[in-house]
Amino acid sequence: MVKIAVIGFGNIGGGLVELIDKHKEIIARDCGTEVEVKYIVDIRDFTGHPLESKIVKDFNVVLNDPEVSIVAEMIGGSHPAFDFSIAALKAGKHVVSSNKEVVANFGEQLLAAAAENKVAYLFEASVGGAIPIIRPMRESLSSDDIISVNGILNGTTNFILTNMLYNGKAFEDALAEAQALGYAEANPSADVDGIDACRKICILAALAYGVIYPCDSVATEGIRNISKRDASDASELGASIKLIGHAEKTADGKVLISVCPRMVPSDVPLSSVNDVFNGIMVSGKAVGDLMFYGRGAGRIPTAGAVLADIVEIVKHLSCGQLPPSKWTRGAGSELADAKAAVSKFYCRVNGNKIPEGAIEVIQKDGETAIVTAPITEYELDEMTKGFEVVSKIRFFA
Ligand code: HSE
Repeated sequence: MVKIAVIGFGNIGGGLVELIDKHKEIIARDCGTEVEVKYIVDIRDFTGHPLESKIVKDFNVVLNDPEVSIVAEMIGGSHPAFDFSIAALKAGKHVVSSNKEVVANFGEQLLAAAAENKVAYLFEASVGGAIPIIRPMRESLSSDDIISVNGILNGTTNFILTNMLYNGKAFEDALAEAQALGYAEANPSADVDGIDACRKICILAALAYGVIYPCDSVATEGIRNISKRDASDASELGASIKLIGHAEKTADGKVLISVCPRMVPSDVPLSSVNDVFNGIMVSGKAVGDLMFYGRGAGRIPTAGAVLADIVEIVKHLSCGQLPPSKWTRGAGSELADAKAAVSKFYCRVNGNKIPEGAIEVIQKDGETAIVTAPITEYELDEMTKGFEVVSKIRFFA
């Protein structure tokens, strides 16, 4: 019997406890032993809850109990999630987490602490919800030379974009629905302003290139400025608008990371990833193009990914340590300049004058939308000097 503690009895923590119970026979069959939730740590009051006897407020109870070998950190936010995780690793306990903020901000420290203490720190659920993406990147693709990673990494914004732009819902209504369905972050600005997607693409870039960069150095733009006119022009141009996290190794060996809405042409598989679904395209020199697709948020799908990490650890308990992963911390100044990246642009200006160099033009309602040839954002700014720019959206590159 393997005993675990679940830290945080919220949406995902609650889903995890529920799933461990529901799948107990499958887990026992697969692992050769049962998994039991010994403690649930949460500072809130759960008097009268059917699991009240397992709930404790003090994390030290878990830390000091040698019977607990795995800690599932489901708190969210940087602190105390990081502090509890590092303490558990130092106490020789394995840690699994769905917390992208902690992985993005402290991943290299947590992985180092795990390696030093011969335990595992796994975080499959931190990116892509239910989609197995961390494990394939950590194992199957670890020997490949990764050219790029492109992903729709935030379920809430994809849900909002799909419902607002293509089903006619108002932004506030679509956001409220995403919150009610348990997709959104506690502060939905993290979703809407691209911060959550930024954390996730930084994690994927670290898996691809071994270096975790500070999120606040990454060029990040959310979906607040996307309008119905942008969406209807996108349809006319055979594309759809998606919030894309992008990472690549540039020709001069730098890492380029960005998060922004992009016009995704309909022949790119990500263009048809809708609602809460996430899609991640990984291009490797050896493997070519891979596409991962699935539910990017939600209580049970995300809990399923956490449970997969627990099962992986339980299976390795009998045969030794999981192979350790190692990241280093990069400085923001080492990142490539995202504005210098070349792609086609959609750009809409006020009035009927057409900026020079347009290769496609849509004129409507006193505004002129153009598509450019592949250029840098600096070149676009030069091209539209003297125009009142209403909207500019990169194409998927
Ligand atoms: N708020 C996140 C999203 C939850 O919408 O994708 C899953 O990480």
